[in-house]
Amino acid sequence: MTENTMRLSGDGLDIELPVYEGSVGPKVIDVRHLYGETGYFTYDPGYKSTASCESSITYIDGEAGILLYRGYPIEELADNSDFMEVCYLLLFGELPNRAEKEKFIHDITYHTMLHEQLKNFFNGFRRDAHPMAIMVGVVGALAAFYHDSTDISDPHQRMVASYRLIAKMPTIAAMAYKYSLGQPFLYPRNDCSYAGNFLRMTFGVPCEDYQINPILEQAMDLIFMLHADHEQNASTSTVRLAGSSGANPFACIAAGIACLWGPAHGGANEACLKMLQEIGTVDSIPQFIERAKDKNDPFRLMGFGHRVYKNFDPRAKVLRKMAHKVLAELGVETPLLEVAMELEAIARSDEYFIEKKLYPNVDFYSGIILNAMGFPTTMFTVLFALARTSGWIAQWEEMIEDPTQGIGRPRQLYKGAKKREFVPIGRR
Ligand code: SDX
Repeated sequence: MTENTMRLSGDGLDIELPVYEGSVGPKVIDVRHLYGETGYFTYDPGYKSTASCESSITYIDGEAGILLYRGYPIEELADNSDFMEVCYLLLFGELPNRAEKEKFIHDITYHTMLHEQLKNFFNGFRRDAHPMAIMVGVVGALAAFYHDSTDISDPHQRMVASYRLIAKMPTIAAMAYKYSLGQPFLYPRNDCSYAGNFLRMTFGVPCEDYQINPILEQAMDLIFMLHADHEQNASTSTVRLAGSSGANPFACIAAGIACLWGPAHGGANEACLKMLQEIGTVDSIPQFIERAKDKNDPFRLMGFGHRVYKNFDPRAKVLRKMAHKVLAELGVETPLLEVAMELEAIARSDEYFIEKKLYPNVDFYSGIILNAMGFPTTMFTVLFALARTSGWIAQWEEMIEDPTQGIGRPRQLYKGAKKREFVPIGRR
């Protein structure tokens, strides 16, 4: 990083702070030593102006609506690559050549089975348990079965854990869905693609062969690609913070899954589809737009707005195009896509949404596609977590290897009671 300085003066202070410039994007002011040198903290609730780390994995330009995975635009990867290549790219920094890709796919494929005893964990859940509750529990429990890949100081063990997590998430996700139906689990097959295996384990039954629809297999793979990573979002920051304490990778990913579950984050795809179903018809849209603008109404347009994007989320554009293709392939007639398109058009021409730069995000169209493919809304965020595991692992690995990273420990602006004497109960 190239270095300049910035002067901070006032309130009795007058210091120079280093300024760094990345390869692209905003410069940063290094405040690491601010407290030690001045006794001041910086104050940034929600971290809207804070760079928590140095990273080379994903770049987002929110104003321009740009998303790059290791420098490659998401649109180009969506058109020309696949999820296994993207996993390799996020983990290792370069697209694989043919031999590297074949070995990576082989290694991932041969980690897709779960320890047989993990099946018992599912029996502890109610059949109507939300599958995200199951994902948090079972993924965290992997640490109880794969002790040979929990030593984070051993690069080989870290890589084995990374492959295991990427490989086993589809198996666990499909099992969570089967468990909710009371249907038997299907084992992964080594002759299926990553996305095809997942569709087969999810929608197949032991009584007959499952025919993988290549259009749906491609759509599933694309959805995984689009959700793979997204810079220092809430769940990725959770994984990094958990990892900074030295927690094992299975615990870190379980923490990321828990954070992703929130409706303001990964849970928005489930919330968005429910919102579109509640709107129901194009005629009902205006009343929901008014509710979204009403400060006294907690209702928000789910799938709209973003902490970083103040322009179109490039993933939403790709998903909007794919929604038409999947619905046509499946011959699905649903008002949901028409409602979504009309909602987008109305919102985008409304002064409130224009002024606040609220655009459709990744969650706005994904639910329509997943719904058409047969997934229940409760599985939408599970699919998000499945895909994002590749990004979480890449970011976790980058943090572990960063020599400047220590345990993450933010401070606070304390507004509570000053020191006071204890009052015995008889005098309260
Ligand atoms: C994801 O960070 C990531 O990268 C996340 C993600 C990823 O890949 O990891 O991209 C995935 O989480 C996408 C976002 C999914 N969430 C939703 O779709 C939920 C609906 N959206 C919002 O809740 C909201 O837009 C957030 C939480 C996503 C972002 O909120 P911010 O940046 O904190 O902005 P804000 O809440 O302060 O909103 C700014 C203004 C506010 O009005 P004022 O206080 O300025 O008057 O815009 C309004 C908000 O009330 N606003 C909305 C709105 N989103 C923001 N008003 C109506 N509908 C909305 N959806």
